[in-house]
Amino acid sequence: MAAEARLGHPNLGLGVGLRHVHFRHITENWPDVDWFEVISENFMDTRGRPRDILDRVAERYPVVMHGVSMSIGSTDPLNRDYLARLKRLADDIQPVWISDHVCWTGVAGRNSHDLLPIPYNEESLSHVVQRIRTVQEILERPLVLENPSSYVTFQDSTMSEWEFITRMAEEADCGLLLDVNNVYVSAYNHDFDPDVFLQSLPHERIVQFHLAGHLNCGTHCIDTHDGRVIDDVWELYRKAHELTGGVSTLLEWDANIPSFDEMHAEVLKARQFLQGGTSGRVPQEKDVSDHDTSTVPHPINYYVGSEAE
Ligand SMILES: [Fe+2]
Repeated sequence: MAAEARLGHPNLGLGVGLRHVHFRHITENWPDVDWFEVISENFMDTRGRPRDILDRVAERYPVVMHGVSMSIGSTDPLNRDYLARLKRLADDIQPVWISDHVCWTGVAGRNSHDLLPIPYNEESLSHVVQRIRTVQEILERPLVLENPSSYVTFQDSTMSEWEFITRMAEEADCGLLLDVNNVYVSAYNHDFDPDVFLQSLPHERIVQFHLAGHLNCGTHCIDTHDGRVIDDVWELYRKAHELTGGVSTLLEWDANIPSFDEMHAEVLKARQFLQGGTSGRVPQEKDVSDHDTSTVPHPINYYVGSEAE
């Protein structure tokens, strides 16, 4: 794939999220990991230990900033103060790119700390495209946006999620973060074919993949980020890898976080695809049935604050 595709972004390899429970391990061992993704909001408003750790990490590894509060789909005006603080952090740590989600996170100035879906129609498309253009002007770089996992759809939608995302990316000239687990979760919940989703996207605009674990409740799936990647998601990853030629891959693990080495080993399972393997089946050490379903799980919501403690 030509370098100018992917908006000029390189394939960083196999990375993991930078989580505070691993700060000590990372700074004592400087593990051999390709790159880190950081939740932008957890480092925007502190000059304390988390920022010190991030500065040291950014000196040694490629870093990507992944945000959860841009609320690109909201009807609220864009939060210029948030964007200024985001830009300031980017100027400091020089991320390879900045990403967020195709969603809204709040309205009337309130942040729900959830990644909420938007209706997919002409009006919302034009609204989102206009806001992406504005954000890209402020950040002075292309924005990369991720497909969310969702649990509801809108009667006002007039197009599929993949058609919306494709047109959004092309009209706003932005990049895409394809969360393969989110495709699986949403396909399960809304009964669409995940292969159609993967095949329909503009593959040259996909600059990154996300992988994660989820909880299958039988009637629906919940995007919990609390366990291993299941076989069917690895199979979707294999297909996405073939369709794109391979892009930067990041494992998200945000609850019941294991040791750094165990988390890192999970994303390294992707090596079989990078090396041309096509079997697409990864032995599972823990099946989703191992999940404790005695408590009601909650979709991952990246509540901002715990990382900054
Ligand atoms: Fe994701």
